[in-house]
Amino acid sequence: MLVTSIGKLRLEKPGMVASGIMDETGHSMIRMLRSGAGAVVTKSIGIKPNPGHPNPTFTELKCGYINAMGLPNPGIELFGKEMEIAAKCGNIIGSIYGASPEEFSTLAGKMEEYGAAAVELNLSCPHATGYGMELGTDPAVIGSIVSAVKSSVKIPVWTKLTPNTHMIKDLALAVQNAGGDAVVAINTVKAMAISPQFAKPILSNKFGGLSGPAIRSIGVRAVFDIKMVVDIPIIGVGGISDWKDAAQYIMAGACAFQVGSAIGTRGIEVFDTINTELEKFMKDYGYSSISDMIGVAHE
Ligand SMILES: Cc1cc2nc3c(=O)[nH]c(=O)nc-3n(C[C@H](O)[C@H](O)[C@H](O)COP(=O)(O)O)c2cc1C
Repeated sequence: MLVTSIGKLRLEKPGMVASGIMDETGHSMIRMLRSGAGAVVTKSIGIKPNPGHPNPTFTELKCGYINAMGLPNPGIELFGKEMEIAAKCGNIIGSIYGASPEEFSTLAGKMEEYGAAAVELNLSCPHATGYGMELGTDPAVIGSIVSAVKSSVKIPVWTKLTPNTHMIKDLALAVQNAGGDAVVAINTVKAMAISPQFAKPILSNKFGGLSGPAIRSIGVRAVFDIKMVVDIPIIGVGGISDWKDAAQYIMAGACAFQVGSAIGTRGIEVFDTINTELEKFMKDYGYSSISDMIGVAHE
């Protein structure tokens, strides 16, 4: 009942681990695959090892988290060892970030070689200079990166978009026009927290990305807007912690969803709980499959 398809890729369960949470080692990814997730998106990986920003990089609020990790990762060569462990156990989606179409193509080729089921282009991180959102708010730049990656690999190419824009529909259209296989919405919302006692921003990077319940309605609106303009699959992410949140994204137009912060607040059981309760809701309300529910809020 919970089976879904993202283009050619079939998932037994519609929920995936979002990039950046419990997905930096082969064994943590296997643990998440066994916890009821249909796929795991890796931490975003770049060309070279990156230590990320200095601490503090993370703060918890009443309504979510703000992080400015700065994309810490071991680099694509070393990450091959983690992929070797995890990719044979289930669907691993390789998240990658680069500064140019060439870098993205190289990284995508490596992820394909490592057995990734798809790649997710991080064109949306709000706290990494020269990467992520700095490239991903211009439809022309998005188009050139997506088409370069599409001509380098055979696996599906997904693009993760930023909500820090007034033109998310144009960004999604640029992905579709460049031959992209799916849109992922949304990454974190640019945000800041200040310590009154220290009279300073809490994070060393000053600003970071807000995630968790505070951004759910922003994500649902983004997916709803995108669904109005593209025909390619949409994957919803942002503030999902229970079946109702997941159902909102699906009804807005998503064929699958990702969970990040709620793995921290609810534990890894969050996937099993969502699966059981979503299935119950579907039975109670007469939906026989996920595809029956996709985009129904538009009708
Ligand atoms: C600690 C942390 C690290 C993250 N790292 C990445 C990353 O490396 N790449 C990426 O595309 N998104 C990253 N994200 C964003 C999440 O994948 C997700 O888009 C966002 O947190 C919204 O979902 P959520 O509210 O379920 O957490 C990170 C989020 C958090 C909280």
